[in-house]
Amino acid sequence: MEGQDTTPREALGTTVRRLLDGMDLEEKIGQLCLVNGAEGSIPQWLAEDVAAGRVGGILNEVDPTVACQLQQLALTRPSGLPLLMGRDVIHGFHTVFPIPLGQAASWSADLVEACAAHAAVEAAACGLNWTFAPMLDVARDPRWGRVAESLGEDPLLVSRLGAAMVRGFQGGDLRDPTRLAACAKHFAGYGASEGGRDYNSCPLSERELRQVHFPPFQAALEAGVATVMASFCDVDGLPASANAFLLDQVLRGEWGFRGFVVSDWESVGQLTLHGVAEDEGDAALQAAKAGLDMEMAGSSFRRHLANLVRDGALTLERLDAMVAAVLAVKERLGLLEGLRPLPTEPSPDVGAALAYKAALECAVLLRNEGELLPLRRDAVRTLALLGPLADEAAEQMGTWVFDGEAARSVTPLTALRKWEGPGFQILHHAGLDTTRDLDARHLDDAAALAARADVAVLVLGEEAILSGEAHCRADIRLPGAQEELLRRVAATGTPTVLVLMAGRPLALEGIHDLPHATLCMFHAGNQAGPALRDLLFGVAEPVGKLPVTFPRQSGQLPVHYSHNPTGRPADEGSYTPMAQIPQGAKQHSLGNTSHYLDAGYTPLYPFGHGLGYAHLQLRNLRLDREELKAGERLSITVELVNEGPRAGTETVQLYVRDLVASLSRPVKELKDFRRVCLEAGDRMELRFQLGEEDLRFVGRQQRWISEAGRFQLWVGTSSAAGLEAFFTLA
Ligand code: NOJ
Repeated sequence: MEGQDTTPREALGTTVRRLLDGMDLEEKIGQLCLVNGAEGSIPQWLAEDVAAGRVGGILNEVDPTVACQLQQLALTRPSGLPLLMGRDVIHGFHTVFPIPLGQAASWSADLVEACAAHAAVEAAACGLNWTFAPMLDVARDPRWGRVAESLGEDPLLVSRLGAAMVRGFQGGDLRDPTRLAACAKHFAGYGASEGGRDYNSCPLSERELRQVHFPPFQAALEAGVATVMASFCDVDGLPASANAFLLDQVLRGEWGFRGFVVSDWESVGQLTLHGVAEDEGDAALQAAKAGLDMEMAGSSFRRHLANLVRDGALTLERLDAMVAAVLAVKERLGLLEGLRPLPTEPSPDVGAALAYKAALECAVLLRNEGELLPLRRDAVRTLALLGPLADEAAEQMGTWVFDGEAARSVTPLTALRKWEGPGFQILHHAGLDTTRDLDARHLDDAAALAARADVAVLVLGEEAILSGEAHCRADIRLPGAQEELLRRVAATGTPTVLVLMAGRPLALEGIHDLPHATLCMFHAGNQAGPALRDLLFGVAEPVGKLPVTFPRQSGQLPVHYSHNPTGRPADEGSYTPMAQIPQGAKQHSLGNTSHYLDAGYTPLYPFGHGLGYAHLQLRNLRLDREELKAGERLSITVELVNEGPRAGTETVQLYVRDLVASLSRPVKELKDFRRVCLEAGDRMELRFQLGEEDLRFVGRQQRWISEAGRFQLWVGTSSAAGLEAFFTLA
């Protein structure tokens, strides 16, 4: 199907219509070209192009003086218009917050919104008015490096947090000069890149797209997102940049999107490499007709659109619609009324306070044998801080930190040293030069320090460069000799805490039970150090929950909690692990189940998992009715009780399963969640509600429908377990 979105002229604002009427063909095409910037200076060709109106936006210029010069150049001609100034402001700007996957572990829309709002003002102070975030790709394969930039594996969680990020960047009114236009990316299905290898094909069915990958984008649209980026990949054979089903039929037709769609970096020209376009001109034509409005960093639009219009291959109406969409966003930003004043950048202290809060909230306590954590200050006189990431200011910031300042980072070593004094000593050894270092020479030196200490804290994981765009791994175990370092430290018998700093979940089979406690911080940003210290010693409690499943091994991937049931489900006892299969065992075909001989069928840590220091219990799950009718709400109440001696936080999660439907439905789907704090000895009643609309799925006709029948629900503290009940949809 070929898209021909041509917003009716009457639907355009008067200013946009007037501007459009006054533009010649070259000026119109100029608005559709996003040009890679000057990065600190303005080359002659760029100055000429901007002054002549051949550029609609610049990306990657963050010097405020140069940004202002470019804007002045854009206004050289009387009909000149200010530029969009775009940048990947992904999880902070000068101040770096946890990577998006880390922020997602907070399950807190408020936190995500606050981080985005802070990043926006820092970026706007440098002349930017547009960010290429949030990334809303549902990520179910952690080999994919961009899992770091994602908000996890679940459509509901990604939708809620993605919408919050849009609100944070954009605020209530985009004319506010402290805000940025956001860009929902990458539309659509990019998270399903085959094998977790970046830029790979996404062989998705329409149903999978609609059910899993579209909802976060729809949520972003409802939050008012100004722009959308098409993904690099092909979806079921058709690259997103030329995909009229995605851009025209769904985004504009079904959802009524009125902002503009930008390509990804040179993805229009790459249509030839995908093998769907003859040449660059054909690529430009296909992209423009499919619903793409602006080209990022390529030359296809600049070189070919004019001829395509003159030849009649592309209608002037479609070209006008593309330009109008860009102008409409400039209008929302207030750019059609003139240049935006640059706000003052907040002091680094303000950013640091939020970065500390965010680093605390992104930490997930995966394991805590014998309640080693929190450590008692009076019981720990010597702490061995070990591992290649214990003192790496830049690495703890993670991927996508073009503008992040490592000088603002406080490492675990620096933070713990601040507490050193009589009665508390830090022994430090990296053990390995990098996380990839295979040289075992210093492992025993590090272990020797552990042997002398009351507790060993081992900071392992991945450097920032091992995740992010194009940085995928086929094997997601701890790289280098880190597993061996952990083994030697654990062998000393000193109580050991493993701290993971990484851009993805890691496969910990074989070593996960060596440390007494494991705290996953992902890449937690500038304040990872103080946050870690305070979590270790119970100044603060870990509140994070996994936004993505931790597999046992890479070979299990992809693995996620919300899979469909199989006709031969595995359970404990339904298979024999490989090592125990007797020699000469015969093949049989009865009673077999779906599992791996060498990895079983369960992940190591499930989606939604995360421990705290308090002892909160869920009790008394009650439904207010057994049968739910259309238009009614099912009310679900549960009690949360804190019988322990310390205050605690829990994220209570509601999951549902449609037991019998016309299509096989996932074994569990997250429907709601709430994070609450409870004082010691306190109890509270929590109430969730479900309506018929929450029970819909994409049926055989590719439409959202619900079907009468029985449902199971769980209220729990992870996707693995919970109190359960049943109800019927009438
Ligand atoms: C390519 C990435 O896929 C996209 O997410 C990013 O915004 C652009 N490059 C611009 O840097």
